[in-house]
Amino acid sequence: MTTIIESMRNIKDSNAESTLKYNIYNQDCTKGLKTLPDNSIDCIITDPPYFIDGMGNEWNDANLKTKASKSGVIGGLPVGMKFDKAQGERLQDFMTPLAKEFYRILRAGGFCIVFSQARLYHRMAMSLDLAGFEIRDMLAWKYEGQAKAFSQTHFIKKDKNLTQAQKESLIKELDGYKTPQLKPQIEPMVMAQKPKDGTFVQNWQKHKLGLINTKESLDGKFPSNVMEVSKHTRKNESDIKIEHLTPKPVCLISHLIKLFTQEGQIVLDPFMGSGSHGVAALNNHRLFIGYEIEKKYFEIAKKRIEKEVL
Ligand SMILES: C[S@@+](CC[C@H](N)C(=O)[O-])C[C@H]1O[C@@H](n2cnc3c(N)ncnc32)[C@H](O)[C@@H]1O
Repeated sequence: MTTIIESMRNIKDSNAESTLKYNIYNQDCTKGLKTLPDNSIDCIITDPPYFIDGMGNEWNDANLKTKASKSGVIGGLPVGMKFDKAQGERLQDFMTPLAKEFYRILRAGGFCIVFSQARLYHRMAMSLDLAGFEIRDMLAWKYEGQAKAFSQTHFIKKDKNLTQAQKESLIKELDGYKTPQLKPQIEPMVMAQKPKDGTFVQNWQKHKLGLINTKESLDGKFPSNVMEVSKHTRKNESDIKIEHLTPKPVCLISHLIKLFTQEGQIVLDPFMGSGSHGVAALNNHRLFIGYEIEKKYFEIAKKRIEKEVL
């Protein structure tokens, strides 16, 4: 029986239907990935749930909306700022079995690029490391960012154990001091690689994988592990309304795709969200497989991806 992967790979020879350029599923990827054959995917570029403020594996749009006001505040703190040590543990528990699946389905020398959050990055890297990947680098998406640290003045004023004089003195002493959050301007990515089959050249001859294309550049210079792309670029990248909290800029994902894959290779995103990775893959003549658990986001991704093959 021909698998979906074989059908996709034969696309150039068989004049197959355009839909075989991509296969997207409104499905939980922890179940869906199990149906993909071993050593069948050329590259994974994904942006899993953040495991902060309800954006976990049960990421639920309706739930987040009721918790978050228009100003982006959840439970009195800006989105993403609630500190809870268990978030990291939950992320690692969720990612470790998935990382093993990523390892199983990737071809030798294939890259697995996984976005994360600065304060949970180590958990993501550990899950991939334990699954057998070589952690090659930490990449950073550099964007504008917004300061989110808090002054303590409000809490001092409310403290019933302090006299008025103590309050005034503390407020003066803590002028300029805030909670330990510097202005976030990077989102880290783990750059993991499935071990090669022989040398770099032997692996390339067998799989056309394992080396990066250094002619691909965002700024005309040798490609760097810091990738500066404004969040504002997203505005001009889609004429379909993207109602998602965290869409990635298509030009950032295109850059990653061109660094790590060749035309005709299969890119997988198990956490599609609004489908930006699929759009980038098809824009660059790669094949695409994607999963998204939420119907609402899946429909947005489907519309955007369908447009690329019209
Ligand atoms: C950080 S967002 C991805 C955003 C995406 N990179 C984009 O550009 O729009 C993560 C997505 O994963 C989805 N998700 C969470 N758990 C999932 C699961 N088990 N299987 C598939 N999708 C899941 C969420 O609904 C959310 O849309």
